[in-house]
Amino acid sequence: MLVYILFYNKNLIKRSDGHSVQIDYTFFYNGKILYLIKVLNKFLFRIVVCSIIGYSGKLISAAPLLVESLKKMEYRGYDSVGIATLNEGNILMSKGVGKVAEVDKEMDLNNLPGQIGIGHTRWATHGSVNAKNAHPHYSCSSNIAVVHNGIIENYQELKIELTNDGHVFKSQTDSEVIAHLLEKYYKESNFNVNETMIKTCKVLKGSFAFVVIFDNGVIAGARFDEPLIIGISNNALFLSSDVLGFLKYTDKSVFLDNGDIVIIDNDTFRIFDVNEKIVTRPVTQVAWELGSTEKGKYAHHTIKEIHEQTLTLLKPFQVSNNFQTFCEFLRNASNIYITGSGTSYNCGLLGKQLLSKFAKIKSEVVMSSEFQYSSDSLEPNSAVIAISQSGETADVLHSVKKAKESGAKILSIVNVPTSSLARMSDSLLTLNCGPEIGVAATKSFMGQLMIIYKIVNILSRDQMPFDEINQKHLLKMVKKVLRLDGVIQNLISSLDKNIKDIYILGRSIHYPIALEGSLKIKELAYIHAEGIAAGELKHGPLALIDKESVVVVLNPTDETYQDVISSSNEIKSRGAYIIGISNKKDDVYDRFVELPDVDSYLYPILEIVPLQLMSYYLALEKQVDPDYPRNLAKSVTVK
Ligand code: F6R
Repeated sequence: MLVYILFYNKNLIKRSDGHSVQIDYTFFYNGKILYLIKVLNKFLFRIVVCSIIGYSGKLISAAPLLVESLKKMEYRGYDSVGIATLNEGNILMSKGVGKVAEVDKEMDLNNLPGQIGIGHTRWATHGSVNAKNAHPHYSCSSNIAVVHNGIIENYQELKIELTNDGHVFKSQTDSEVIAHLLEKYYKESNFNVNETMIKTCKVLKGSFAFVVIFDNGVIAGARFDEPLIIGISNNALFLSSDVLGFLKYTDKSVFLDNGDIVIIDNDTFRIFDVNEKIVTRPVTQVAWELGSTEKGKYAHHTIKEIHEQTLTLLKPFQVSNNFQTFCEFLRNASNIYITGSGTSYNCGLLGKQLLSKFAKIKSEVVMSSEFQYSSDSLEPNSAVIAISQSGETADVLHSVKKAKESGAKILSIVNVPTSSLARMSDSLLTLNCGPEIGVAATKSFMGQLMIIYKIVNILSRDQMPFDEINQKHLLKMVKKVLRLDGVIQNLISSLDKNIKDIYILGRSIHYPIALEGSLKIKELAYIHAEGIAAGELKHGPLALIDKESVVVVLNPTDETYQDVISSSNEIKSRGAYIIGISNKKDDVYDRFVELPDVDSYLYPILEIVPLQLMSYYLALEKQVDPDYPRNLAKSVTVK
């Protein structure tokens, strides 16, 4: 049974299994009395990643295409699915709870007739997971249907107003207010879609993107802090939250900017802002290899992506990345911040150490979610290196906005070159590692590391060698480590099935990798894991170590080697089970994962691989889906 403990006196609830959820009503047990509490529906924190697709074409029916597009975007995480199509002037709708294939089977989504349509996968936020709350949402007279991603902050006020005006709501979602607002303005404007869209967008508050289908055959969309992209093919136009939604049909994309409204009428589209001013946005060709969205011979995207690192490692150097310009900005900066979230933040931590060690450049790494509180020394001459696989992480975008306001230069390292972050940047380096479908960042982390190493190489004026020869040798060594896949699988299957805690120790440049490894274990295998700077053990964490503890030690032969051996002995004497990851074996390790010899500063790139593999196999042991960890989504587009 899950016990809910109310904390923070609002609607963010911590469950006994450690996860935070947002709910409308909860029971609060104070030890004696059971209270039923109505929780204020004001959002503090959410993980949201819905997917949106809109299609207006001539040649094929909309429904199968919408279903297929939603499947392509499944990696973003969701709990329910729905589509709406226009057929002979009527908007038809079908939606349900579950995976796209399940809902399709149950509701026969594919056979909804019509050549225009919209589709959505929902990640429940406002209102529970049920078919009524799934998108699309109809207006009262069903002449409009809408799909939405993000938050409508003022939905409660709007809902009250609309209800007083006679609108009837069928769901608990914030999204449904958009459908009713559109209906109101559609009627008031005598069915003028432009005016309807503008008035609706002016009233809504929050960060959102939505796509709407009108019964006159027009599809419209709006982008306010959530991604929305137009896909242009010869016979059709698309509107999607992700290029994967239409990439099978076209690689020609228009990335809408914040505040853009788009109207698709037959085979033309126009973009304008809330002042009705027409805006033009460039058409970009998106260079993703579609094949890589399939799992191929692998059981999961995660393991495929771990192995794919040998293909993607050198990709940052195979596109026209302008490292020199990027580094010039850094050379000219009065102070340097590095920011990112989760895995990208861990990469930043390593970047800081390498910059200091080899280039003698001081920088400050700040988690993006903390940036607003700890970036007081930002000034026009500062540079902010923003690291983000997706380029859409809300915390990162907010940090960058803040930095920009101070006049700082934004230098980003991203995988999606057309992302919001990329477009806000003064200089950009791209990972070019293709779509990363597994929720856990693996190959993108590797790409980020490669870029960081190159930057340090340039800024250190080769004090830290990292030329083509080093890179190619490194690639060979990563391949060698990946051949340990079977060894690691055996190692993991030999461990106690009820491991509660795993500690990963590393000093200096190995510490960020210890943090990254522990993040992977937490999210993939749902096991408590902690990265610890080995020297800190005696300042507290040693108290946790006992016979039940599993400790992974990152300990290649560099300046940290002997100290980490000493720490390992301390741990061993408390009965812990030690897995050593090193190029040198030692008796203190119960199990040993052997790394090949490389220059010592390169070990972080090798070390992360066994940790990724361990996390993956721990997930399999626990029989949880490593591709879609619970409660997490690929892009966290809301603060
Ligand atoms: C962990 C993971 C997350 C992301 C974080 C930032 O495996 O994937 O911690 O690294 O949400 O995402 P990006 O890099 O897209 O900004």
